[in-house]
Amino acid sequence: MLEVPFHCPSISSREEAYLLQALRECYWGGGRWVERLESHLSHLYGRPAVVVSSGTAALHLALTLLLGEGGGEVIVPTWTFTATASEVVHAGGVPVLADVGASLHLTAETLEPLLTPRTRGIIVMHYAGEAAPMEELVELCQQKGLWLLEDTCHAVPAYYRGQLCGTFGAAATLSFHATKPIAAGQGGAIFFADALLAEQAQQLRQHGIRRPPEAPWLYEVEALGYNYMLSDFQAAVALAQAERLSETWQARRHLAEVYQEALADLPSLSLYPVREAAASGWHLFPVFWRGASVGQRDALIRRMRARGFALSLHYKPLHLHAAYRPYVRPGQTFPQAERAYAEIFSLPLWPDLTPTKAHQLAEALRQELATLTR
Ligand SMILES: Cc1ncc(COP(=O)(O)O)c(C=O)c1O
Repeated sequence: MLEVPFHCPSISSREEAYLLQALRECYWGGGRWVERLESHLSHLYGRPAVVVSSGTAALHLALTLLLGEGGGEVIVPTWTFTATASEVVHAGGVPVLADVGASLHLTAETLEPLLTPRTRGIIVMHYAGEAAPMEELVELCQQKGLWLLEDTCHAVPAYYRGQLCGTFGAAATLSFHATKPIAAGQGGAIFFADALLAEQAQQLRQHGIRRPPEAPWLYEVEALGYNYMLSDFQAAVALAQAERLSETWQARRHLAEVYQEALADLPSLSLYPVREAAASGWHLFPVFWRGASVGQRDALIRRMRARGFALSLHYKPLHLHAAYRPYVRPGQTFPQAERAYAEIFSLPLWPDLTPTKAHQLAEALRQELATLTR
């Protein structure tokens, strides 16, 4: 048993009570609790929320609606989880992988050379809970007539110059995967700037069916949709988590401060740059081992895991995975992502992890780094 797993969701009596209530109600398949969750999220984001079965389903539906019939190219950072790019393909588009800047986000500089007449939009991912450089990205999209989709799975809540991440683009997606700031096992949500697209997404997530309110048994399949509805059990847990978000965010932020202090005197490490502590989502705590190779970094993670401390990796860039090789353009290079890939690892950062455990982890890291660099 690992002493410190990479993640463990925080549950309180609220999650337990909501889940039990949902269990005792006669409709389990996405009813009252999904509506309550949507209303809570809509209030937070100021846009209609469409709750779905995963962050991947959210990306798929959002991209299906943004791309429409026409397909086309979508620029995606190579520094992200596979779903950000795979769903472009599943929605009928072509992902174009872009290198990232020093904060591991897409920037105007890294994506501009990749624009073609076929480019339809860009997906920005707010890595680790830190907002991407939204001003330049929004401006570029406006200039070039492109839509912007925010993969906001890490950034709940996070802000760019006071504005909530997830409210900049034509659409934004969340995940309620077990490791995410709002955890429900699985689940996701989409926010559209255009209320009409939100209505279409609501219909597509339930097989494209429309039910006349006066005769709901007489449904009509108006479009070929999907079964992307979230169950009421998951919605009940997600709602409790969403209502506790500021409490769990505070705990993650505090733990980040503990790590910052405990690791400050390790010259071989540098911490992932955060512009403003109060504006970060504090979803991941990435650390760079400066000058390390992929092999050295992996040895460090392996040794720490053997001691009971589950470090992890976010990410191996997409262009280095077999399935994405066909999407790399001839001669294309990704120097920033490849440098980061060799040096980076993530520390556990979850609300109920105690500062004592975090100190023990930092001490073990200090010892292992000393052994590996001897
Ligand atoms: C950046 C990013 N995008 C998309 C996803 C997909 O979300 P889900 O696992 O809910 O399908 C994840 C989650 O793992 C993620 O980290």
